[in-house]
Amino acid sequence: MRDNSTAPKPIQVDENSPLFDKTGMLHKEFPSDFRQIRYFTLLIVQSAPPDIKEINLLEQQISEIIKNAVKHGNKCNVEKKVRIWYSFSSEHAHLIVEDEGSGFKDLEKWNDFNKKRQKLLEGQDYEALADFVSYRGAAADENDGGNALFAAVEYWSGGFVFNSKRNCVAMLKRFPQKRKGVELESEA
Ligand SMILES: Nc1ncnc2c1ncn2[C@@H]1O[C@H](COP(=O)(O)OP(=O)(O)O)[C@@H](O)[C@H]1O
Ligand SMILES: [Mg+2]
Repeated sequence: MRDNSTAPKPIQVDENSPLFDKTGMLHKEFPSDFRQIRYFTLLIVQSAPPDIKEINLLEQQISEIIKNAVKHGNKCNVEKKVRIWYSFSSEHAHLIVEDEGSGFKDLEKWNDFNKKRQKLLEGQDYEALADFVSYRGAAADENDGGNALFAAVEYWSGGFVFNSKRNCVAMLKRFPQKRKGVELESEA
């Protein structure tokens, strides 16, 4: 097994991450219409091979990122586009999601918050954990659960990285392959 630590990695900021290489990726762009996010997500996910692992989980993870682009990035302004590049195989899922917003400014705050939350979870300090159930950004409203990205950094174990403007996020998931009866996990 590759990794014995359960701590999720922080959200990164790295304009030069190889995850921003769009070579060979498919591309679609959508208006920022909140009601159509599930449909847009399905259009993307349908290019994944049928043997891909846990496709519903993948779909859910993708739709949360598109929701964030539509809502937090583009403020649901239908004139603003969400651009998505994607590539799937039975071994990987790679996405880049770009919005026209001003970027995830409080990213460092979010990383701090998640680190504390993770410590409390590990220490089983459930009383203190009550204050870390969800992240409430300055602009959060009652519809924001404030917890999608906790799962995202865990799910996208090959990296979850923003560009310097923080309005574009690239992510990678590698699926463990079964070969000759031995489970091989590729490097994250
Ligand atoms: N594309 C984005 N542009 C700006 N801010 C973002 C973006 N994506 C995420 N965020 C910030 O990250 C926070 C946490 O996101 P998330 O875990 O999905 O919770 P929620 O969307 O329910 O608030 C958001 O409240 C927002 O402040
Ligand atoms: Mg969200």
